[in-house]
Amino acid sequence: MNKKINKILKYKNKRKIICLTSYSKNISEIIDPFTDIVLVGDSLGSVLYNYKSTRSVSLKTMIEHSKSARQGIKKSLMVVDMPYNTYRNKNEALKNAKKIIKETKCDAVKLEGGLKILKIVKHLKKNKILVMGHLGILPQSVIGKFKYKGKKTRERKKILNEAILLQKEGVFSIVLECIETSLAKEISKSLYIPTIGIGSSKNCDGQVLVTDDLIGLNQTKIRFVKRFGNIKADIRNSISKFRKEVLHKKFPSKKYSY
Ligand code: KIV
Repeated sequence: MNKKINKILKYKNKRKIICLTSYSKNISEIIDPFTDIVLVGDSLGSVLYNYKSTRSVSLKTMIEHSKSARQGIKKSLMVVDMPYNTYRNKNEALKNAKKIIKETKCDAVKLEGGLKILKIVKHLKKNKILVMGHLGILPQSVIGKFKYKGKKTRERKKILNEAILLQKEGVFSIVLECIETSLAKEISKSLYIPTIGIGSSKNCDGQVLVTDDLIGLNQTKIRFVKRFGNIKADIRNSISKFRKEVLHKKFPSKKYSY
């Protein structure tokens, strides 16, 4: 088993696991000292490319961003999202997961889904590929509005059952996206692997957010996003100073010239 994963598994019931997204070297360098897991999420489709859905994100795009993100990660476990239509069956999944790992040097891949992907997870595990699961809202399957999961009894049972089955097939952790508070608690208590929540209350074993959202670079009104900073204001300030110095012929001074 990967050493970094072992460490993360031991955090369950001891301390919360910190996971954030990165799509580039510069962001990885900043977040890596603070994170346990860096996720190259296919959320980059909406955050960077303004796509309507993550379904438009290609394998090539994921690999290029992951290669960049890899450069800034020293200590965190690196997980890369397998994009839509790259794991429709076990052979396709294995071929693409191997390609992602070979080209990006990531530690693990993340797949969305429950019952539909069990055989795929099992096959990847058999081939020594580390897999993270993702339940609740599955952005690759949603068309239209996102609604939180776990309101109705049948849905609750289904998600809990899928979490247990994913664990059985060998995922090392599961992202729970927008799952009702008491269900997130029940799932987290029922599993020996850690759950990483996003919009799923503090009852999860760890939390993940899209870094661009939490630093205020991507402006979003999603309920579960807390903006911890306003990096846009800092960028505006720097750009404005640059503009002024250029207009007033202060930049570039001798110091910055040859
Ligand atoms: O794509 C992504 O960034 C994700 C996280 C939000 C969990 O899947």
